[in-house]
Amino acid sequence: MSIQGPKTAELFDRALAALVKGVSSGWRYWGDDDTIVLTGGKGAYVYDADGKRYIDYHLGFGPVILGHGDEHVTEAVSRAVANGTTFAFTQEQEVLAAEVIKQAVPWVERLRFTNTGTEATMHATRLARGFTGRDIIVKFEGTYHGAHDYVMFSTPGDAAEALGSPFSPVPVVMSSGMPRPIGGLVRTLPFNDLGAVERLFARDGANIAALFVEPMLGNSMAIEPEPGFLEGLRDLCTAHGAVLVFDEVKTGFRIAVGGAAEAYDVTPDLATFAKAMGNGLPVAAIAGWGPVLTGWDRGGIVQAGTYSGNAVSTAAARATIERLLTGEPMAQLDRVGNALMEGTAKILAAKGVESAVLGRPAMFSFYLGDEQPIDYRGATSHNEELYENLVMGMIERGVMPSPDALEPWFLSAAHSDEDVATTLQVFEEALTEALG
Ligand SMILES: Cc1ncc(COP(=O)(O)O)c(C=O)c1O
Repeated sequence: MSIQGPKTAELFDRALAALVKGVSSGWRYWGDDDTIVLTGGKGAYVYDADGKRYIDYHLGFGPVILGHGDEHVTEAVSRAVANGTTFAFTQEQEVLAAEVIKQAVPWVERLRFTNTGTEATMHATRLARGFTGRDIIVKFEGTYHGAHDYVMFSTPGDAAEALGSPFSPVPVVMSSGMPRPIGGLVRTLPFNDLGAVERLFARDGANIAALFVEPMLGNSMAIEPEPGFLEGLRDLCTAHGAVLVFDEVKTGFRIAVGGAAEAYDVTPDLATFAKAMGNGLPVAAIAGWGPVLTGWDRGGIVQAGTYSGNAVSTAAARATIERLLTGEPMAQLDRVGNALMEGTAKILAAKGVESAVLGRPAMFSFYLGDEQPIDYRGATSHNEELYENLVMGMIERGVMPSPDALEPWFLSAAHSDEDVATTLQVFEEALTEALG
């Protein structure tokens, strides 16, 4: 049975005729009969072309932290649009947004804006390489740092067997079209395995420009760092003169206003932010402190972008972060998220499904299996079929998480107690059906 109603099906046919596979980003294509076409969103809800309402836990893969069409952001953006959008000069909103970011994330001294997370990690890569004069980038299996060639190795979706031995992991290329020699510049490691990181640095530390980490695995079931892991990465990077980059594109302004650095109390050299900082507007940043930023001060390391720091996106960032700084949205997120985590865990236990609910209230995931994972390899042992059937049953009933078990559920401050109650009821119904 298709999840498309008649108008959605008709609109998607037109999308197929005009957009390649009907989408503007490959992962949005769920099949000719199962790709949803939305016409709008408000608060915790999105609406498809047939007017069907979904409680949204997808939230655009995480950005919409205040809810769709939030009035503060809408007003700030409307004012900015009317006042001129792109100048390619430093403009007032950009300065105000940068100041409010520094307030929210106190370890940040200075930053540069970009438009997407991919741009942010690409520029962080170049800055780290230019600053250190080294080429090697280290990343963890099951992390995603954007769609540029330098980081698309051992990403979510790879088969565990393809990743090689955990003692000598093999970087797995994500896409055709990536030049082969780039693979020689990347080292991949299992998350939460500090011993593996220590061995790599002992062998190759003098050539490592940067270590990139999603401090919580936001692209692999919201797996959290074990105590001491991030601290250990910090110490190793300091000892070997490598740049520690927290990719906070998903965790930033979400798991805490100050992101993962605040939540786990570890300070990187650079962080990349995007998603929740603009409540859905395309805005991102590379933020840092200390000597690494002098790489840009001194010149010779190119960072550029016509739309970077534009008035509309930075006005959205300022409005979003100012709202977050009131503390109200996070309190609501925590309350509602906790209720969902606890409620779903109870339902799973009552149905006898071996499982663990991972992550934090603002972004959490379900591992359906008997061994709670601490890294990507562990996450791949989940019951994929059961999860997909469960979520497709929920989507049919008007509740929308991602059907990909690796992708967390995202919460917004617009989700209410009533939404939680509906979601739990739908979760139970869909799970009962999926278990047969
Ligand atoms: C951790 C992380 N880094 C970078 C990116 C890339 O961001 P964008 O899609 O804005 O280019 C993503 C996207 O999901 C992400 O999750």
